[in-house]
Amino acid sequence: MESNIFLPRPARIVGIHPETAIDWTYRLEWDGDTPRPGQFFQVSVPHVGEAPISTSGWGDGWIELTIRKVGQVTGAIFELGAGDRLHLRGPYGNPFPLADFAGNHTFVAAGGTGLAPVRGLIQSLLATLGKAGGPAGLVILAGFKTPGDMLFAADLQAWSKQTSVLLTVDRAAPGWNGHAGVITTLIPDLEITDIARTRAVVVGPPMMLKYTVAAFLDRGLAPEQIWVSHERRMSCGVGKCGHCKIMNSYVCIDGPVYRYADAQWLTD
Ligand SMILES: Cc1cc2nc3c(=O)[nH]c(=O)nc-3n(C[C@H](O)[C@H](O)[C@H](O)COP(=O)(O)OP(=O)(O)OC[C@H]3O[C@@H](n4cnc5c(N)ncnc54)[C@H](O)[C@@H]3O)c2cc1C
Ligand code: FES
Repeated sequence: MESNIFLPRPARIVGIHPETAIDWTYRLEWDGDTPRPGQFFQVSVPHVGEAPISTSGWGDGWIELTIRKVGQVTGAIFELGAGDRLHLRGPYGNPFPLADFAGNHTFVAAGGTGLAPVRGLIQSLLATLGKAGGPAGLVILAGFKTPGDMLFAADLQAWSKQTSVLLTVDRAAPGWNGHAGVITTLIPDLEITDIARTRAVVVGPPMMLKYTVAAFLDRGLAPEQIWVSHERRMSCGVGKCGHCKIMNSYVCIDGPVYRYADAQWLTD
């Protein structure tokens, strides 16, 4: 019998970790295809609907999704507990190209929930940092509205023992001794030693994306050296329905990860 690409697979929730009040990481049993950094799943709750969600982590027999509660589908997911099932199609979409970071000094800049889609990328880059086929250097920039909006606090701390992690919050709060200001304020002081061997990855809300890309361009990076990931409303996720189509590009298959040079019109 021909397989149905729209038929989701059930995936049991084995753990839930609240990152903030409205961003929770769900660990699911998963024996389907292993996602690659930047890819997403169409996640559904029967009788409610379906939403595209990036994979924030994966391992042997499991994947993780970090979900912000914003509406119907995500609200219904927050009603579920360990032992309940989500339904998944995927992984879908164009991943981050690990080969393009090989031998290059790489900056990964994430704003707010934008850290979820790059968490797996950061882990992959750290695993090969300084080795053949891995990046020559890695600097992680992460910006949040307030300290209470921080995702993956334990990961950020662990990563900071392996490489440079620059944290900032838009609005400081009592007890916050770190940098305060939007993420673009970190970029003028970044040490860039060899511009031709530099890459940047930028993921976050539209305004953050636009101004952070502009700040890297100001530092001399070419549009070809910058990678971005875009969120657009989707339906089928597999290039059939046209919901995600902008100009001649289907974000579900040509994206969500794009080389900035190939999709400047999505950012501006
Ligand atoms: C490729 C991709 C990866 C994504 N990864 C994640 C992720 O890792 N974690 C996560 O929490 N969310 C992610 N999203 C966003 C997520 O898909 C939406 O928040 C979700 O579809 C909202 O569904 P809902 O039924 O709960 O909200 P709805 O009831 O449909 O809407 C609630 C609110 O969210 C807005 N909204 C709905 N869909 C989107 C969208 N696609 N983009 C922007 N605003 C939207 C609506 O305008 C409305 O204000 C991703 C989206 C895409 C396209
Ligand atoms: S979501 Fe249907 S074509 Fe992209």
